Amino acid sequence: MSSLHPETRVVHLPRPVPEGSTPISMPIYQTSGFVFDDPAVFADGMGRPDGAYVYGRLSNPTVRALEEAVAGLEGGVAAVATGSGMGAINAVLLGLLKSGDHVIAQSALYGATAQALADLARRFGVEVTHVPQDDPAAVRAAVRPTTRLLYLETIANPMTQVADLPGMCAAAREAGILTVVDNTFASPILCRPIEHGADVVVHSVTKYLSGHTDVLGGVAVFADHDLHRGVWSYAVELGATADPFAAWLTLRGIQTLPLRMERHCANARVLATRLAGHPAVAAVHWPGLPSHPSYDLAAKLLPDFGGVFSFDLAGGRAAGEAFMRNVRLALLAPSLGGVETLILHPATTSHRTVDAAGLAAAGIGEGTVRVAVGIEHPEDLWADFAQALDAV
Ligand SMILES: Cc1ncc(COP(=O)(O)O)c(C=O)c1O
Repeated sequence: MSSLHPETRVVHLPRPVPEGSTPISMPIYQTSGFVFDDPAVFADGMGRPDGAYVYGRLSNPTVRALEEAVAGLEGGVAAVATGSGMGAINAVLLGLLKSGDHVIAQSALYGATAQALADLARRFGVEVTHVPQDDPAAVRAAVRPTTRLLYLETIANPMTQVADLPGMCAAAREAGILTVVDNTFASPILCRPIEHGADVVVHSVTKYLSGHTDVLGGVAVFADHDLHRGVWSYAVELGATADPFAAWLTLRGIQTLPLRMERHCANARVLATRLAGHPAVAAVHWPGLPSHPSYDLAAKLLPDFGGVFSFDLAGGRAAGEAFMRNVRLALLAPSLGGVETLILHPATTSHRTVDAAGLAAAGIGEGTVRVAVGIEHPEDLWADFAQALDAV
């Protein structure tokens, strides 16, 4: 190297690999490609998700560390990390479905997922039947020879209906169809759908898994190696793969996931319970309250009830708007699962593409406010909510 010119030396900088020790924290492998000594190893790595690292769109050590971490937490065999939750959901749907296939999906779905399914129907002739999230008989009745998969969300957004995962997955298995579960709201701390019979679990890691409102990411976890390989190769074709820095931030967030989930759930309990007793509030939708339609199921399925809830203000839309203007600590913002408490008005934001009938069917009213509870001190949050309610 000493005989080389500076122009060449700065291009071919040293690449020392640690020997005799490994870093405590997973390093960020911020590289788009990898160098080989052996052309045969290079060629072999191109075609599979578990070979030598070749090119960042196929795999990357930091991204694989995230995939292995989430696969381990969910009890799956392997995972594909993507650039967003919708990247994971669409890689799974497009990787598993073809024109003419039929999908059974729960009625209460995250808005962009509902839109993705509607687009698949419109553009590729994939037919979709919606069923309640806790009705295995409706799954059995909806199955056709072309049915390929059942799509569920462990806890739905924003009214927090809980899916009957054991019953729904069993109905799908009897019919020989796959079950895909969006486990974003529960996180693997509250629920591991593969233990209840799911074949694929998807997450927006943007939410609880990363936990600090600074990352966009997704992951799909598989109960089976063949499913993983098929979706991985489609995600590579789509270019849906995760970025190493986002994967690294997510890994860092995951290390405090159990602690954060405990506080999110405890704070949600304080706020939901107190709101339920407040005269300005008509109803609170949190599956940890006995008044919630999913309470019995949630109590059997989940060790705690999550950090997201919605509530209806008795004064309707005007009261909802006044509440959102008056909170000081809670932030008026999209998303959920971060350390800070965020609130939004579903009818005009997350569910703005859903028509009036759809909103009514989902139980979303003009005065519904969604709360994604953070990890602040619960008394500070309640003081903020109480002063905002005084003004509605
Ligand atoms: C339940 C659920 N699934 C999927 C997504 C999509 O995730 P992303 O925004 O990371 O694409 C979201 C986003 O809010 C969500 O709430």
